[in-house]
Amino acid sequence: MSDKKTNSYRQNTILAHAGLSPRENHGVVNPPVYHASTITFPTLDEYEARDKPPFNGASYGRSGTPTQFAFERAVSALHGGHKTVAYPSGLAAIAGAINTFVKNGDHILVADTVYGPTRSRVCGNILARAGVEVEFYDALIGGGIKDLVRPNTVLVYMESPGSLTFEIQDIPAMTSALKGTGVVTMIDNTWASGYFFKPLAHGVDVVVEAATKYTVGHSDAMLGTVTVATEEHYQLVKGMANSYGYHAAPDDCYLGQRGLRTIGVRLERHQTNALEVATWLQGRDEVARVMYPALPSDPGYELWKRDFTGASGLMSVELVDAPHEAVAAMIDSYDLFGIGASWGGYESLVLASYPEKTRSARPWTGTGPVVRYHIGLEDTADLIDNLSVGFERFNAARK
Ligand SMILES: Cc1ncc(COP(=O)(O)O)c(C=O)c1O
Repeated sequence: MSDKKTNSYRQNTILAHAGLSPRENHGVVNPPVYHASTITFPTLDEYEARDKPPFNGASYGRSGTPTQFAFERAVSALHGGHKTVAYPSGLAAIAGAINTFVKNGDHILVADTVYGPTRSRVCGNILARAGVEVEFYDALIGGGIKDLVRPNTVLVYMESPGSLTFEIQDIPAMTSALKGTGVVTMIDNTWASGYFFKPLAHGVDVVVEAATKYTVGHSDAMLGTVTVATEEHYQLVKGMANSYGYHAAPDDCYLGQRGLRTIGVRLERHQTNALEVATWLQGRDEVARVMYPALPSDPGYELWKRDFTGASGLMSVELVDAPHEAVAAMIDSYDLFGIGASWGGYESLVLASYPEKTRSARPWTGTGPVVRYHIGLEDTADLIDNLSVGFERFNAARK
């Protein structure tokens, strides 16, 4: 089936078929893994026409082979986007995408609640050294973002919900306020993935995702994607990826492509499990607040319900005030929640986090420790049993 035909279907159908081209691969249904640096051409004329069939843009391994191209087409189809560039990690995608649109002397606006390394490494290191001024804005600013735009503002960077604390941004209000300003809008959409939120349909120009998380979905590969709505932006983003020599590994693109076939069923299950666990956590005396936009009590619930079609498995809780030893006693002996910095795989994870260290536009006002949970695909009764026993340890260590 051609991509054009596939893309006219609904999203679960798209996910089952996007990027496939069995006729070009001896009938094999999954695009094969091409390991390549060198690609040879029978004639000079064919080399010079390498963007056309049968080579379709493959000219040297670094800039991609049919393996990367198939994955990129599938991601674009999920987003209803024009084209996608695969990167070797989510952070590489963020750095590459932001660098595409900035130069020395520019000013950019970045949500206060972004992923930690976006703030510390990309903004605090790369952009600072390049002479790009970064201003962190309150993630809840909505259409007021326009008041922060200066003559040299070139980019507004969003992440919704925010890392660690899960604030939902009013993306449509922001993109419509910025319309006509010439400012490029970019979002980290990793939490929802293209399955639960489609930023391009809400006026965002550039979508970055850590495909490492739900796209790959099995905790076994690093991958990032940048998806754009126009050929002009594609040429810029691809040009920057080529300039840096970024190359997403073929085996990892294969795993990303395979992950997309089941992302729908996995995310639906993450959502059911996470909502059940979040509701249970909310009823606990040890929990001051659950931060999960799909809970009707969450401050972002109305915006989430309006713009998203579902919620993934990542949330945080603010515990009642307690010493670090009590949090460690709770977390250290979980049977099913591994202590890990990642998320988006099939398994449950836990991590203590410290939003007070990474907020400037709207200082963090919580008083208790914050713990982030990734709710995996396990049976929720087992997860809740584990959490329950953890609270017993927490309570014993608080006394
Ligand atoms: C929201 C978010 N964006 C981006 C990244 C970076 O992705 P990667 O680890 O693939 O570089 C992460 C990783 O945890 C993340 O949580």
